[in-house]
Amino acid sequence: MKRIAISTGGGDCPGLNAVIRAVFKTAHIKYKAEVLGIEDGFDGLIKPDKIRKLTPHDVSGIISEGGTILGTTNRGNPFSYRVVKGDKVERHDYSKRVINKLKELKVDCMVVIGGDGTLKIAKEFFDLGVNVVGVPKTIDNDLDFTDVTFGFDTAVNTAMEAIDRIRTTGESHHRVMVVEVMGREAGWIALHSGISGGASVILIPEIPFEIDKVCEHIKQRHRQGLTSSIVVVSEGAYPKSGKRVYKPGAGDPGANKVLGGIGERVGNKIEAITRFETRTTVLGHIQRGGSPSARDRTLGTIFGAMAVELAAKKDYGKMVAIHKGEFTSASLAVAVGKLKLVRSDNPMLLASRSIGVEFGD
Ligand code: F6P
Repeated sequence: MKRIAISTGGGDCPGLNAVIRAVFKTAHIKYKAEVLGIEDGFDGLIKPDKIRKLTPHDVSGIISEGGTILGTTNRGNPFSYRVVKGDKVERHDYSKRVINKLKELKVDCMVVIGGDGTLKIAKEFFDLGVNVVGVPKTIDNDLDFTDVTFGFDTAVNTAMEAIDRIRTTGESHHRVMVVEVMGREAGWIALHSGISGGASVILIPEIPFEIDKVCEHIKQRHRQGLTSSIVVVSEGAYPKSGKRVYKPGAGDPGANKVLGGIGERVGNKIEAITRFETRTTVLGHIQRGGSPSARDRTLGTIFGAMAVELAAKKDYGKMVAIHKGEFTSASLAVAVGKLKLVRSDNPMLLASRSIGVEFGD
């Protein structure tokens, strides 16, 4: 193994830089291999001037930094590359361009760090003969094969700290405080931050809710003299009788729709039905930014080092993971494309129900 390439794709996530650093250091120190940094995910292999040879200086001090020093995008699928012309969107297949670029650069293996979408693209390239190794990332923690993804711990702690702050103002004013957190398909962030932040109500995409049940629970608390309640809502949560809420007109034509607004809707309904003063806070990208937790730095470091070991063994087409508590790897074909949702028998969900948390079902 003489030269590997590394890219980060999809939404950024605390711990990405720890992975980049570990990949570089393992390749450089243990295998004396060169590492090419590809900027902005696969875009870096399509557009000019987005590839650079990484040096020890590039990765020095980055373990504590949020974001990714390589940049990222969640728009650049080379198999269906989106080109916006005015208000029209064209799709082009640039996969051959990517393959040729990697050949031209004499890359032995490409380490692709990304969520489900990015890793699916990595698998498509592997099927076409490209040597790839995947590293799973997402703050949503919804990739099925791995018990946990780096970034999740930081996001949960950030949300929990925000909830702690929101509680003190809510209690002072006797208000219902609604907090919308990230979580497109899965309610892991809402569940973990809600429980650790002492929420009375948690609404997640896996459990469509009834607003009347939510309001009844809050009224019941008031009857007991508890005049402030925290309601944590996943951005992907929706009522039994309704749909997910997207931001109107947000995003470029043809891009993924941007979730957002369910918190405000829930807050408005609670105020209208209970007549209790209610305020809503949307945490948004605060959960994705900033310095990673110790856990995400260590998990990212282990994943990065493991990815290089796979590349060194020519064990391509795999994704590193922590599966049932063991650090391991699995073929991308097995590991990607399946979401890990909060199941009805999840221990944290069951414990939450036992301590009286309302899920609106
Ligand atoms: O998948 C991670 C995530 O943070 C989701 O929770 C959220 O819906 C999405 O990314 C937001 O993406 P963007 O930054 O592109 O709006």
